[in-house]
Amino acid sequence: MTQIGTDLTTAKQLLERGEVVGIPTETVYGLAANALEPDAVVKIFGVKNRPSFDPLIVHTDSLEKVASFVEDIPAPARLLAERFWPGPLTLLLPKKPLIPDLVTSGLDTVAVRVPNHPLTLELLRALSFPLAAPSANPFGYISPTTARHVADQLGDQVPYILDGGACRVGIESTIIGFTETGPVVYRLGGMALEQIEAVTGPLSVRDHSTSNPKAPGMLSSHYAPRKPFVLKPVEELLARYAPERIGALAFQHISPLIPSENQQFLSPAGDFAEAAKNLFAAMRQLDALDIDVIAAELLPEQGLGRAVNDRLRRAAA
Ligand code: TXA
Ligand code: MG
Repeated sequence: MTQIGTDLTTAKQLLERGEVVGIPTETVYGLAANALEPDAVVKIFGVKNRPSFDPLIVHTDSLEKVASFVEDIPAPARLLAERFWPGPLTLLLPKKPLIPDLVTSGLDTVAVRVPNHPLTLELLRALSFPLAAPSANPFGYISPTTARHVADQLGDQVPYILDGGACRVGIESTIIGFTETGPVVYRLGGMALEQIEAVTGPLSVRDHSTSNPKAPGMLSSHYAPRKPFVLKPVEELLARYAPERIGALAFQHISPLIPSENQQFLSPAGDFAEAAKNLFAAMRQLDALDIDVIAAELLPEQGLGRAVNDRLRRAAA
């Protein structure tokens, strides 16, 4: 059985022994292991039931440490790191041989980020190695934003979960790569593109498809509840389902057409950051109800609204 707690020494000792540990970040909880040790990293894939073609993000606590395991930090990457780390931004950089191929699924770039969570930063500072960590959910399911979410799904396979409270950002980091033609977005996420573009200039977005070899994990179906999840107004579902069999995930307002206990709304004030923070917990709550279908509503396509919509579309795919 797992233990949930705030003891950094326990977490550190387990990681040093090559075990996996649940860690909080500002985006979602991660399932961490020593990124330099293939025997430790392989456990992550096992616990998550994750295909080995889907590479992991490496977490550390400073740009100086990143320099020890990447060949080069291009100028725009350095600018972004200096401006936004620690924060919900992941950069794809050419890896040194020190990073095992298992971490990058054989790619020559490694995804790196400095997460903005006090407990995890303290852990990373105390460790002599970086941590490989995907989101701490079974592959394809909704990402966890509390220690309890991690325990509920992976508890029997993870000896310790470091409890850092509910995640402040609530959706995964934005992923940026660097090509000859400029910076490219591989995943929309917790850092809005407008903010990144203020530093880099215009970005191209190449974030979906199963055929994108640069981001094999960007599968079109992801973050999915077990219940049927559709991007349709509640009204349309009433032709097929009784009102009490329908759940709804709305941005600001609840619907008068179905029971209020079947509904979650992300931000009464219409705030995108609040909506992102609440998204995954709301999806989990709806998934646990005795209903037949979940109707979700998209947000306006701006700021973090774009990243929330990306998650909703993949959940519905
Ligand atoms: O916010 C986050 O990024 C969270 C927290 C725990 O840091 N982590 C996370 O990891 O979302 P994960 O494994 O669920 O998603 C990482 C994504 C995968 O879809 C993977 O395909 C992509 O990053 N990725 C990793 N390395 C890559 C690389 N070298 N090139 C392209 N995509 C890469
Ligand atoms: Mg994930």
